[in-house]
Amino acid sequence: MKMQQQHIRRAIGMPLDRVDGRQKVTGSATYAYEYQVERGTYAFPVQSTIARGRVVEMDTSAAQALPGVVAVISYQNAPRLAHLDDADLAVLQSDAVAYYGQFIAVAVAETSEIARQAAGLVTVRYEEQPHDVTLRADPGVLYAPETVSPDYATDTEKGDVETALASAAVSIDHTYTTPTEYNNPLEPHTTVASWNDDGGVTIYDATQGAHSIRDDVSKAFGLPPERVRVIARYVGGGFGSKGSTHPHVILTMMAALVAQRPVKLALTRQQMFALAGYRTPTIQRVRLGADGNGQLTALAHDVVEQTSTIHEFAEQTAVATRIMYAAPNRRTTHRLARLDVPANAWMRAPGECPGMYALESAMDELAVACKLDPVELRIRNIPTSDPETGRPFSSHGLAACLREGARRFGWQQRDPGPRKRQEGRWLVGMGVASSTYPVYQFPAHALVQVDRAGQYRVRIDATDIGTGAWTVLTQIAADALEAPLDRVRLEIGDSSLPEAAVAGGSSGTASWGSAIIAAARKLRARLHKQYHDVIPDEGLEATGEGGTNPGEQQFSMHAFGAQFAEARVHVDTGEVRIPRLLGVFAAGRIINPKTASSQLLGGMTMGLSMALHEGGVRDPRFGDIANHDFASYHIATNADVGTVDVAWINEEDQHIGPLGAKGIGEIGIVGTAAAIANAIYHATGIRVRDLPITLDKLLR
Ligand code: MOS
Repeated sequence: MKMQQQHIRRAIGMPLDRVDGRQKVTGSATYAYEYQVERGTYAFPVQSTIARGRVVEMDTSAAQALPGVVAVISYQNAPRLAHLDDADLAVLQSDAVAYYGQFIAVAVAETSEIARQAAGLVTVRYEEQPHDVTLRADPGVLYAPETVSPDYATDTEKGDVETALASAAVSIDHTYTTPTEYNNPLEPHTTVASWNDDGGVTIYDATQGAHSIRDDVSKAFGLPPERVRVIARYVGGGFGSKGSTHPHVILTMMAALVAQRPVKLALTRQQMFALAGYRTPTIQRVRLGADGNGQLTALAHDVVEQTSTIHEFAEQTAVATRIMYAAPNRRTTHRLARLDVPANAWMRAPGECPGMYALESAMDELAVACKLDPVELRIRNIPTSDPETGRPFSSHGLAACLREGARRFGWQQRDPGPRKRQEGRWLVGMGVASSTYPVYQFPAHALVQVDRAGQYRVRIDATDIGTGAWTVLTQIAADALEAPLDRVRLEIGDSSLPEAAVAGGSSGTASWGSAIIAAARKLRARLHKQYHDVIPDEGLEATGEGGTNPGEQQFSMHAFGAQFAEARVHVDTGEVRIPRLLGVFAAGRIINPKTASSQLLGGMTMGLSMALHEGGVRDPRFGDIANHDFASYHIATNADVGTVDVAWINEEDQHIGPLGAKGIGEIGIVGTAAAIANAIYHATGIRVRDLPITLDKLLR
């Protein structure tokens, strides 16, 4: 067939509906747990009820005697795993207990109900050891990790912070705290494992990256990676919690190995509070010094946070502070407490999200101290190059976002003083905060095929966790192939497809997209040169690589944004309402305005939830999270959310890769909580430095 040469409308930039939308709303999109497996069984775990110690006795006889039980597995009879760097994945390999809720056994049965009942019949005797689960800024127990996630320096220092702070015309010194927060994707963490006759295994998993699961489990079970196939075609949210391998994947595979039958496991919502990662609580001291004009002279951001005893995760909480504002004297530090708690991990904008709550609250306090408008204060302190590395920014949209946001939000009507506006019994205020997220790109490979009929297949192990990847990658491929959208069939979410990095770090669109573009260009060039645009009978294919960014060493690359909030606080009850939020972002080229808008809106809503509702309460006596369900761990619902406006400025960035896109999955949550805290201060004159801002903190 001769390829058509007519002009094709660009798909990039179109507000295309989700290509997987119909399947999702009609229930034909198959999520991991929904795969039918022959002779499938169900697993239900037994979790430790102590925070530290060891299991000295376990009686599984009653569980084993229950009709319908296929196997009960504990460390006494579990298959041995290879040694792993992540000790949390060494499931059932010893009698040691390192946190409350850790797997100590699993029951496998014909139905999930029987499995659950059997798990409940297992009795355990422990030898308990003293535990500590409470984060404190106590230098005696803190240590400096080698790096912070993913690979940043733990501390940075420039100039002389202490002297500059001591001599500053205006200074502030405050400590901000954030609680344990949970990702809580709507789809729980689920795994279906099915061993094949040849010793290989097929896994259906709710994950952000099939290849990364494949790599971890092949190591654990000593399998060549090609014997492991992981499928994750549709995923119901992750927010980072499905970005790394958690113990239940290993547990399910183990159960299937022992049972010699396929096994399905779905963590319950309550189990997810111990077993699927969470955001560390933080204690953040921020000190700012400025001259009479509000020009920063010194800035220090010292972070205290936690990690588990068996798996270090050092959240990069102060990293955004390194690039946000110019100040000749500056310091950032991270210190960890190693506690007897479950492993914390990635949660939407790890680092930037809690860190910018503290920095942007402090900037608001500085604006008050300097008697300067908080928008103006921020604009005055925008650096002309990266303040710590000296590299130029590849593009920098913060000032434009702040100005555009102020205009749209009606900022000029704001009386600068706090507690100036009251409507009935409601105090009304407006707040602002900056937002940022780095441009990450990770290696990706794609394969593009065209058949005789001119139909394209684009194959890449990308993952759509609800973000719109199915849709935007189809758009990117269509443009790169100069083909109409309906000629492009995308295949993603399968480790048998060409390898691509996890859906994380807001890197997916740019990384996967650039691999697709590279493959498409190769295919088109060959088709044109070798075949004069006539597709040979056997079709053609080409592979491409992407996700590496040559500009990375030369430029400082970040997306920016400005968040605005209106808060209403009831004078008598302290009840908080947020009728309006506005986020204006500069994130390079927007591939699909519809899915992009949903990503940013979702991020801001999650930020509102962080500001007002979310917080896990760890019980120091037992070490578990007391409010480990949706009845007691509050998440913003429709009634809590008012109008959320999302906008972006047109930003062209030549240095960030062929798409010019910066990533939008995480920046939406960054700064929202500070904007709300600042609005609440403006409404009430009360500064709350501890999230969430519940009404008890506003009753004076
Ligand atoms: Mo995101 S927390 O990088 O999956």
